[in-house]
Amino acid sequence: MEKFLKDKKLDAIIVSDPYNMRHISGFRGGEGFVYVSAGRKVIITDSRYTEAAGNEKKEGFEVVDSRRAEMDILKELAASDEAVNVGFEDLFVTYADYTALKEKCGIENMVPLGDSLNRRRSVKTPKELDYLRKAETIGDRAFECVLEYLKPGVTELEVAAYLEYTMKMNGASGLGFDTIVASGPNSSMPHAVPGNRKLQNGDFVTMDFGCNYEGYCSDMTRTVVIGRADDKQKEIYGVVLEAQLAAIDAIKAGVTGCGIHNIAADIIAKAGYGEYFGHGLGHSVGLFIHEVPMFSPRVNEEIPEGAVLTVEPGIYLPGFGGVRIEDMGAVTKDGYDNFTHSPKELIEIF
Ligand code: GLY
Ligand code: MN
Ligand code: MN
Repeated sequence: MEKFLKDKKLDAIIVSDPYNMRHISGFRGGEGFVYVSAGRKVIITDSRYTEAAGNEKKEGFEVVDSRRAEMDILKELAASDEAVNVGFEDLFVTYADYTALKEKCGIENMVPLGDSLNRRRSVKTPKELDYLRKAETIGDRAFECVLEYLKPGVTELEVAAYLEYTMKMNGASGLGFDTIVASGPNSSMPHAVPGNRKLQNGDFVTMDFGCNYEGYCSDMTRTVVIGRADDKQKEIYGVVLEAQLAAIDAIKAGVTGCGIHNIAADIIAKAGYGEYFGHGLGHSVGLFIHEVPMFSPRVNEEIPEGAVLTVEPGIYLPGFGGVRIEDMGAVTKDGYDNFTHSPKELIEIF
């Protein structure tokens, strides 16, 4: 953090994004502020979290109870540091918070940090990689179990609940995001919300799910067919799988986000389905489900070793249905360390 302050010519930073607070200080409670200057590292939170924060904090941090107003505490910290240039998360704080920080804390120069703190989370530590790998292993286990649960007559909501229950029974503390289960024609909506529709023979069923393990998210998608797949379903599935495998094959440190996206997009386009793949190929995953950098046509930057990204191409045909296949893994010097081990050949449920 000292180097970050120095590089940005800052006297201090005030952080309130829960994921950045956790990453910088270890504090998991999510409510409060983290203040860091050259001389002080402080977690400011209320009595609901102070004891836990004391256990969670990284070395060098102190916990201050915010029973006194947070703004007064921040004001004192900034004054004692004679802090003039103070970084804040302009992408996160509300206008009201910004105004309070500026006026009540008397900070002369509030410096917007953009996504620079988020970017510090892009390259994962070995411990973070372990947590992410474990989280995805829990997802693999849930997929293995749900294959026994899927049958005609079961609703999307029941399938979602079963996936969530299974992940929790296998060690997840919560979900990484809202579970998607989309069946039949609903599967043409990439982020469909599960409902009371009952699975029927001939349906595609797309399941996109992930858990939270030690604060870190997992993310995977599998699409199966209830009963026998028809030729069109097999064709679309084959194209998506080919696109995913080709993209994964090309990943290594230093590739660009758009370069990898385009490998998958070109395969889908050549098969005649270009207009039916509208989203980016993948995103980083960490404490939050959608992090940077991404595999996206809009991202020209290089992807570093140690970043953890998904690879999730899809084809979505309105009125017919859709397919998405999603893995998550770490970018290595020479390739992609895939954390997802669930099978990817088209599974027909009988
Ligand atoms: N459902 C979140 C994602 O796959 O990006
Ligand atoms: Mn997903
Ligand atoms: Mn994803």
